[in-house]
Amino acid sequence: MPLVVLPALLQDIGPVCDTFLAAFKNEPIMKFLYPRGVDRDCHVEATAEQWKHDSIVYNYKCVDTNTGKVVGMATWEIYWQPGNENGWKKPQDIPWLEGKEKERCLRILGPMWDVREQLFGNRHHLYLHALAVHPDHQRSGAGRLLVQQGIEIAEQLGLPIYTESSQPGIHLYKSLGFEKLNHVRLIHKAEVLGEEQDAEVPLVVRMPSRAKGLSFREWGERGYNENYA
Ligand SMILES: CC(C)(COP(=O)(O)OP(=O)(O)OC[C@H]1O[C@@H](n2cnc3c(N)ncnc32)[C@H](O)[C@@H]1OP(=O)(O)O)[C@@H](O)C(=O)NCCC(=O)NCCS
Repeated sequence: MPLVVLPALLQDIGPVCDTFLAAFKNEPIMKFLYPRGVDRDCHVEATAEQWKHDSIVYNYKCVDTNTGKVVGMATWEIYWQPGNENGWKKPQDIPWLEGKEKERCLRILGPMWDVREQLFGNRHHLYLHALAVHPDHQRSGAGRLLVQQGIEIAEQLGLPIYTESSQPGIHLYKSLGFEKLNHVRLIHKAEVLGEEQDAEVPLVVRMPSRAKGLSFREWGERGYNENYA
């Protein structure tokens, strides 16, 4: 039986969060977001609050239909509603962190938010907020199915998709028609990361087929017209 992507329901929240936490366990961002380690129950509770109240965020699970197990998850922010008031608003805070820990995390998230504001601001678009496949089930096509599902929605809306890729994610995105941006780049300095070398976060955009081959940069130069003229 194949893998299938379905909307994630509130009752899926435990397995969806566990999939996310297992996949991101060794990702560098986690030590900034959760410097004292992840409190699984807090994470589940905060995620549930968001699922109940946020009207922009759409969650999906990828299920192995042989076992019924959740093997992957994706969270999409879909800015499709009319009017600028429904666009993305740059966060002002990281509510669960304080003092030095907050400062440290803001040095990572702040530039990420600035670039996103510069590139998309209030424009209609899809943002892939999280994509995760449980390490026991990676390289079986779940990640591809989850991204393809978002692409179908983006195609219906005729909107671009934006995300900050991880190193393992970049191959997947490129093979699904995303372009890596080179005119705008996000590079974290070694001293901010506490590593020996600077690290680039690949920024990727997938333009819809309605844009007829226009690159994101060209679209910007023409004023981000939603008819892609
Ligand atoms: C990135 C991730 C979602 C990919 O999920 P997946 O289910 O393993 O991916 P798929 O099996 O659908 O593979 C899709 C393509 O990506 C490639 N790929 C997957 N994992 C890869 C890795 N670690 N390194 C390089 N390429 C990888 C596969 O080779 C495949 O390409 P192919 O079809 O040409 O062979 C998964 O590795 C993951 O959750 N990683 C940790 C969290 C993360 O980085 N999330 C992405 C944030 S942007």
